[in-house]
Amino acid sequence: MQIARTLPDLRAACAALRAARGHIALVPTMGALHAGHRALVTQAVATGAGVVTSIFVNPMQFGPNEDLSRYPRDEAGDLAQLTECGCHIAWLPDVATMYPPDDATSIEVAGPAERWEGAARPGHFRGVATVCTRLFGQVRADAAFFGEKDWQQLQVIRRVVADLLLPLGIVGVETVREPDGLALSSRNRFLTPAERALAPRLYTVLRETAAELAHGSPAAGPLARARAALEREGFQPDYFELVDGPSLTPLPAARPPARLIAAAKLGAVRLLDNIAVG
Ligand code: PAF
Repeated sequence: MQIARTLPDLRAACAALRAARGHIALVPTMGALHAGHRALVTQAVATGAGVVTSIFVNPMQFGPNEDLSRYPRDEAGDLAQLTECGCHIAWLPDVATMYPPDDATSIEVAGPAERWEGAARPGHFRGVATVCTRLFGQVRADAAFFGEKDWQQLQVIRRVVADLLLPLGIVGVETVREPDGLALSSRNRFLTPAERALAPRLYTVLRETAAELAHGSPAAGPLARARAALEREGFQPDYFELVDGPSLTPLPAARPPARLIAAAKLGAVRLLDNIAVG
């Protein structure tokens, strides 16, 4: 695996990779890689594409009250995992490469970015959309792979690519879970042992509620009961909603492609999860 830290190095490595493989797939990450990221890289490699994985902790997507310096970093461990997965190029830009001093452009997304994480974390999706668009341009990727765990992020990226007519395909990859159902996340390491034991309940309640709503009955009652159950168990739910999958607008009852989305705090950790309904 080649490691590129400057744009000229990336361009040279990508040109050689494109010549060898014909097309290039990008896996954008912020590092602290786990089995969820490895699944993205493995699926990208399985397509036969040349695979570039970026590792960049993007300051633009952190709010003023979110601790960028606390974000876990493990470059050596990440590079070892990428090598093992068959990644071809690791792209590790610094902040000045991603956001040069004369930089004047950012991407503001409405629609699917407005509610939920967009409301809880103002500016977050501007940061995500801006960095991903830059990564697409830097790598000149033909496809990019994102996890369904961050469902809203995946829909925001799809919207940006469609609206700006960007010449790449976006591939969503199913959430990877611990055996007890907890969705893998780099934030899980901050759970205390007691919180870790409780955390899979979020997915259990999502599954139970999805089963209740699958046949199109009104959602308000089951959603309120789910929020109350989580609160009783010690979560602080931020939202637990039934939405239209691509647009993230609330639905009064499930109709395809409906999605249940949830964010809930457990101690200091904000857990996100989602599930298809029906
Ligand atoms: O999901 C993430 O890790 C980040 O939001 C992403 C897509 C790499 C953009 O910084």
